[in-house]
Amino acid sequence: MNNSVFITFLSPPHVVKKAQEKFTAVISDHECSTEEILKIANAKKASALMVSHRQKINAETIAQLPDTVKIISTCSVGFDNLDIQAAKARGIYLTNTSDVLTDCTADLAMLLMLNACRRGREYLEIMQQGWGHSYGQSEMLGVRVTGKTLGIYGMGRIGRAVADRARGFGMKILYCNRQRLTTDLEKDATYFESLHDMLPHCDILSLNAPGSAETKNIMNDEAFGKLKPGAVLVNVARGTLVDEDALIRALESKHLFAAGLDVFQEEPNFNKRLLEYHNVFLTPHMASATVETRDDMGYLCLENIELVLKGHKPKTPLW
Ligand code: 8YV
Repeated sequence: MNNSVFITFLSPPHVVKKAQEKFTAVISDHECSTEEILKIANAKKASALMVSHRQKINAETIAQLPDTVKIISTCSVGFDNLDIQAAKARGIYLTNTSDVLTDCTADLAMLLMLNACRRGREYLEIMQQGWGHSYGQSEMLGVRVTGKTLGIYGMGRIGRAVADRARGFGMKILYCNRQRLTTDLEKDATYFESLHDMLPHCDILSLNAPGSAETKNIMNDEAFGKLKPGAVLVNVARGTLVDEDALIRALESKHLFAAGLDVFQEEPNFNKRLLEYHNVFLTPHMASATVETRDDMGYLCLENIELVLKGHKPKTPLW
């Protein structure tokens, strides 16, 4: 088999080692631009590309790849960076890393939820400034998480993992999803066909749906207006789901109590106006950033590549 594999971004050492053991691997020490991807893929007659969700592989790029390319494996569960139809038309397999980052992403949703509700950023700032004066019984109060009603928009694997964690906090779970889940997956959660019908019941809203044309700016002025006053927003999905101007208006009017955000409309140069609201707890798109999960994501990409180069179907195909 032609086993020239091009890893187009900086990967963890275990993943690099495995790639070198299994393939003739070209491994970039930085995240390649589209021009670099095309140049190296063509020069090396690559049979497989491993990309990150930040690298847009659109129809124009796919058209310029050499015929040797059999698979493009994105090291992410989200695949809004890939043009599936264009790849399919050229017979190039596309794969993602579904499953392996579910737990870490759901863990981060809880971290953001707790920090947003309990004013984590403001309390950290107080400590950084030396604390110095005691807070009275009625000062700097947050929102209790235990027992609250959590609405989950997007009840795929990650949404369900968030629900499982929230049940541990005694929370009531509502969810909105394209389709109602089977009883074994739904458990005790209440289904809403429409997001707008669910919003008025949510103390906390967690966004867990993929970025797509359908979900773009789903949280707009109208949707924020439907949320319960004092609600908290958590987003570990994609920044495209939230109209950030509408979010800022909801923060400014105090309709929202707080937000916890890992993803933004523009990354990495996110809207700095969000920093002005100290009740927004922010992280830089790092939900999957643990040693274990980043290794598992890399290994799954390599497993998919190996399967395809040996003439089999990949484990997590996107078409
Ligand atoms: C990123 C993600 O890929 O899997 C996804 O869809 O958004 C993340 O896991 C990862 O954080 C690399 O930046």
